[in-house]
Amino acid sequence: MQKNELERFSTLNNLCVLHKIIDLRKQISEWKSEGLSVGLVPTMGGLHNGHGSLIKLASKKCDRVIVSIFINPTQFGDDEDFETYPQTQKSDITLISEAGGDAAFIPNVSEMYPRGFSTKVSVIGLTNMLCGASRPGHFDGVTQVVAKLLNQVSADMAFFGEKDWQQLTIIKRLVRDLDIPTKIVNVATVRDEFGLALSSRNSYLNSSQLEIARKLSSVLQMTAYNIASGGYSSVECAQAMKILLNSGFDKIDYIECRDSHSLEPIERTTEDECRIFAAAYIDNVRLIDNHIVV
Ligand code: PAJ
Repeated sequence: MQKNELERFSTLNNLCVLHKIIDLRKQISEWKSEGLSVGLVPTMGGLHNGHGSLIKLASKKCDRVIVSIFINPTQFGDDEDFETYPQTQKSDITLISEAGGDAAFIPNVSEMYPRGFSTKVSVIGLTNMLCGASRPGHFDGVTQVVAKLLNQVSADMAFFGEKDWQQLTIIKRLVRDLDIPTKIVNVATVRDEFGLALSSRNSYLNSSQLEIARKLSSVLQMTAYNIASGGYSSVECAQAMKILLNSGFDKIDYIECRDSHSLEPIERTTEDECRIFAAAYIDNVRLIDNHIVV
């Protein structure tokens, strides 16, 4: 969509659209000077009801909600889907407005990474396992852009989904370690009626691939149940891999049971909360999910 058309469409939807950091800051300080609290929902667009639930919770907890839409190049690997990532600006604007958002911040790449940009932001340890092991540099890109967004908005609260549990854990560590004064709020995973976690990448799947994708959540749930009932996670996860490969998944990146907070591997459940984490491919579409073990 052209910039002017986007502006007209946003006005119709009662949504203020900002492209420049300077305008974003002006808007935020206007709200703050009125004593209003501000919530931030960072996204890459391709919005669905999972994002919608973040925006709804943000608008319950904060007076004003700003949703950022930025397909962040630094978190994509060379062989990943940066070029083809879904861009659905018109429906994104409608969804933000219907979910209770007040403004959308849609910067371009040179606004976020001006010429000469040379700062990295890395969280050590939590980023080299699970998704970090097979997507080297991915979480450095995430922490880089999230640190920038948190600094740009100075929100009271920022909202992140539990679907990306490892990302959420890393961002909580980032905020704690760098004393960023924004409270990070978790939002439960939104699923379709068959349990499939909503994801912008689900739009890459055809109907028979969708059928296969829907097995992921139920297999993880069953695995979580077996581990909670005393099973060894190495045995249960190996079994889950077999089932998923037999169900039509083309490749399993990992299925692992880990402590929810330290992300350390867990072989048998203890008092501490743990989760089953998985990443699996159908064709070249990479899906991730996680379930609590209770
Ligand atoms: P994106 O994939 O667009 O997701 C934006 C936020 O929506 C994340 O916090 C994600 O966990 C949450 N989300 C996605 N699907 C969800 C679902 N089914 N239920 C609940 N929440 C869901 O995650 C990113 O973008 C980026 O890495 C970002 C943090 C914006 C940094 O670029």
